Amino acid sequence: MKPRIGVLTSGGDCPGLNAVLRGVVLAAEKLGWEVVGFRDGFEGLLPPGSHIILDRQSINGIMALGGTIIGTTNRGHFVAKVGAGDRTVVPANVITGAKNILDELQVRALIIVGGDGSMVTAQQLQEAGINCIGVPKTIDNDLEATATTFGFDSAVDVVMDALDRVHTTATSHRRVMIVEVMGRHAGWIALHGGIAGGADIILIPEIQFDFDKIANVIKAREAAGYLGTVVIVAEGARPKHGQQVKREVEGGEFRLGGVGEIVAHEIAKRAGKETRCCVLGHLQRGGAPTTLDRILATRFGVKAVQLANESHFGSMVSYQNYQVRHVPIAEAVNRLKLVPPNGEMVRTARDVDISFGD
Ligand code: F6P
Repeated sequence: MKPRIGVLTSGGDCPGLNAVLRGVVLAAEKLGWEVVGFRDGFEGLLPPGSHIILDRQSINGIMALGGTIIGTTNRGHFVAKVGAGDRTVVPANVITGAKNILDELQVRALIIVGGDGSMVTAQQLQEAGINCIGVPKTIDNDLEATATTFGFDSAVDVVMDALDRVHTTATSHRRVMIVEVMGRHAGWIALHGGIAGGADIILIPEIQFDFDKIANVIKAREAAGYLGTVVIVAEGARPKHGQQVKREVEGGEFRLGGVGEIVAHEIAKRAGKETRCCVLGHLQRGGAPTTLDRILATRFGVKAVQLANESHFGSMVSYQNYQVRHVPIAEAVNRLKLVPPNGEMVRTARDVDISFGD
């Protein structure tokens, strides 16, 4: 039997996951490994195990597919993290069960494609003696240990397209259009999408806003002859002295969302303008990956196999200075990368007349 390498996709999906799987399978085959894909994230490791053999045929034509052909979840028995910075422990019996499944299937190394929470789990599995390699994934682009992740560019592309569309209807109706985007505690999607889509106002978690200042910007725009205004608001943004808008609480977890409607309401009240809010939600996580994400995801998948082949266990693939390198998972976890409020991107946005409502 060929030596086996396992792979799973965990956490929220994003465009590019299938491109990683394709990269893993093709690179592994060249090195003589067989690839075992575990279904539905870490849950596939629960006894009796749920897996499929991934070969050339199973990955044929999946590069352009959104989502993940082996499924994923951001819930379940292996969730090691709830919210930003919190850390919980995966129960020992769950880890032992996973270890037994991997031993039974003779899987020597496990490639985990996931975000920060999944890397916390990966580190715990690694500490328990499972050979893990991490591949970072998130549309939020909020991992400090890698310059960027695949999925982010595709999400920004969706936002840019939405803004292009919203501009025309804002102008036709002389309205203020508010577009709420994802990103959790980081404003990267809003910032990049807002710049690319020519937003007039960008509201991000890293810069707290003031409703009156936003209203003043809108009134000034109107006085200057602009017919419409486009505001992009990150789901984690909040006003000065205000709270983030958390939509739902489930088993200690919360889901951000709803700030867009509040911003729309406050603008209508303070600027006397007609407003409409449009929440992009999971549209940002679906569809075909962009060129950049396809290439990055392929490079990440290939690198993960190389790391496994060289027994660099406990490492996470990382993109630094245009090179795909690796860092210890232990150093990568729980380090959020937020938008520097005085950084070059924010200053550039301000220089092209974008207000942050501050
Ligand atoms: O982390 C990715 C992300 O899409 C966030 O931007 C968003 O807050 C969250 O996941 C939504 O998760 P769910 O798929 O559980 O709704």
